[in-house]
Amino acid sequence: MNKLFLVSFLGLLITAYAVAGNMLYDNFNILGELEDLDIAEEGAELLEDPFWISERGGKVLVNVDSFGAVGDGVSDDTEAFRKAWNTSCSTPKSVFLIPPGRRYLVNATKFQGPCADRLVVQIDGTIVAPDEPNDWDPKLPRLWLDFSKLKGVVFQGNGVIDGSGSKWWASSCKKNKSNALTIESSSSIKVKGLTIQNSQQMNFVISRCDSVRVSEVQVSCPGDSPNTDGIHITGSTNVVLQDSKIGTGDDCISIVNASSAIKMKRIYCGPGHGVSIGSLGKDNSTAIVTKVVLDTALLRETTNGVRIKTWQGGSGYVRGVRFENVRMEDVANPIIIDQFYCDSPKTCQNQTSAVQISQIMYRNISGTTKSKEAMKFACSDTTPCSNIVLSNINLEKKDGTAETYCNSAQGFGTGIINPSADCLNSHDKGYILIDHKENNAELAERIGDRITHTEL
Ligand SMILES: *[C@@H]1O[C@H](CO)[C@@H](O)[C@H](O)[C@H]1NC(C)=O
Ligand SMILES: *[C@@H]1O[C@H](CO)[C@@H](O)[C@H](O)[C@H]1NC(C)=O
Ligand SMILES: *[C@@H]1O[C@H](CO)[C@@H](O)[C@H](O)[C@H]1NC(C)=O
Ligand SMILES: *[C@@H]1O[C@H](CO)[C@@H](O)[C@H](O)[C@H]1NC(C)=O
Ligand SMILES: *[C@@H]1O[C@H](CO)[C@@H](O)[C@H](O)[C@H]1NC(C)=O
Ligand SMILES: *[C@@H]1O[C@H](CO)[C@@H](O)[C@H](O)[C@H]1NC(C)=O
Ligand SMILES: *[C@@H]1O[C@H](CO)[C@@H](O)[C@H](O)[C@H]1NC(C)=O
Repeated sequence: MNKLFLVSFLGLLITAYAVAGNMLYDNFNILGELEDLDIAEEGAELLEDPFWISERGGKVLVNVDSFGAVGDGVSDDTEAFRKAWNTSCSTPKSVFLIPPGRRYLVNATKFQGPCADRLVVQIDGTIVAPDEPNDWDPKLPRLWLDFSKLKGVVFQGNGVIDGSGSKWWASSCKKNKSNALTIESSSSIKVKGLTIQNSQQMNFVISRCDSVRVSEVQVSCPGDSPNTDGIHITGSTNVVLQDSKIGTGDDCISIVNASSAIKMKRIYCGPGHGVSIGSLGKDNSTAIVTKVVLDTALLRETTNGVRIKTWQGGSGYVRGVRFENVRMEDVANPIIIDQFYCDSPKTCQNQTSAVQISQIMYRNISGTTKSKEAMKFACSDTTPCSNIVLSNINLEKKDGTAETYCNSAQGFGTGIINPSADCLNSHDKGYILIDHKENNAELAERIGDRITHTEL
């Protein structure tokens, strides 16, 4: 369907701009690349039977209760979890079982692989962290439940991972806080159905992983809890997050350095700071993020919608991103690129270098904006944003004052674009094909027809 649309769209462009020359073909390539950005939702190498069936499936149950876990929410079950993990990890086809109906108090723990084949981590009960910051193991300052070096492991169940973070939220931001669930240095991982809540800091971190499928996960933290990102992806490739609902005090999803081929599908976000790529480039660091797709999302009352944020002084690039089919309800900054991100009490000086941003497509994004700047492309003077593609955008402010802000941003648009984004074309560096005001109205009408006929 998309391909068909692209073909008819290109056909129209060729007819309309047969004389535009090489730059036309550059834009075709960009659109083509953005269209082709696709990451398979179900990885072929993933496990064929994701559900454990105790006897018939030949599974070996390793129940934490059998290792002395009490599950009364008061007794320390850390040792029982560690022992059960060791047994489970070394037993082929085992199920590390946290049974339903109980609360297990567990300290910061590293659950390390590699493990025997086909391990399932079945979380049906609740795992809670100690709530008193003074009791936190100083040797494990940044993590709570940390799973590493796993291959082909399924995490599933209707259970809850509760970081008991409220006392930490109130304490200084200088304190080392822990992320609730971390999966790192692992591959072919599936996470399904869990609820992660009240983390001290980030709720769920996917770090240095390859091939991860996350579905039907819920993240829940108060809207004013600091730095409690919902799902944070760093150094990871081939990750799909789908059918997940996130409400938290920071970014619902954040994607940072060395991440590529990330797909998010059917995501609900709110409250929170939106879906972000970044922040990137802090302290003059290099960051690369490529091939990111967000398809079908509802953002409600968030402080940003779809955002790319980079610090001055960084290097590297963000390239090949598509945000599409997104509904915004009362969102401040629904579409934003901010190359002047500065999450610091001191003002950040402008510098000559910045993380480069190009080939970013926004398609079928509609709804209401809380701020005047429904679209904001605040790009570095020395490192402009290029090839920003807008297609069928309709963002309205109740009082009718929505507008688009651009600084050093170049791009083009197709279809209806409201508020108009003429400023994207005003930094003409010879790339621009479509003058929104003049040529595009007619073209949009014709393409608009095609969109309704081919895309629905
Ligand atoms: C688990 O296994 C590791 C590595 O073999 C060992 O160092 C640790 O003491 C074991 N822990 C328990 C609780 O048995
Ligand atoms: C957790 O670890 C700390 C420090 O090692 C210890 O004081 C505490 O008793 C442990 N258990 C719980 C439940 O906090
Ligand atoms: C935070 O953790 C780091 C090590 O990860 C340590 O060097 C530092 O002293 C800790 N800071 C505080 C305030 O505990
Ligand atoms: C970014 O990722 C690359 C590749 O993994 C790594 O070498 C580099 O140290 C990372 N940069 C930062 C700031 O973490
Ligand atoms: C980043 O680079 C700029 C320009 O070279 C320099 O002034 C600044 O101190 C550097 N910042 C850090 C945190 O290294
Ligand atoms: C546009 O996005 C909305 C919100 O996700 C969706 O309901 C609608 O079907 C999309 N329209 C098209 C033409 O894909
Ligand atoms: C950095 O540059 C931007 C764009 O030119 C400008 O709006 C902003 O005021 C500058 N910031 C500083 C701290 O100079």
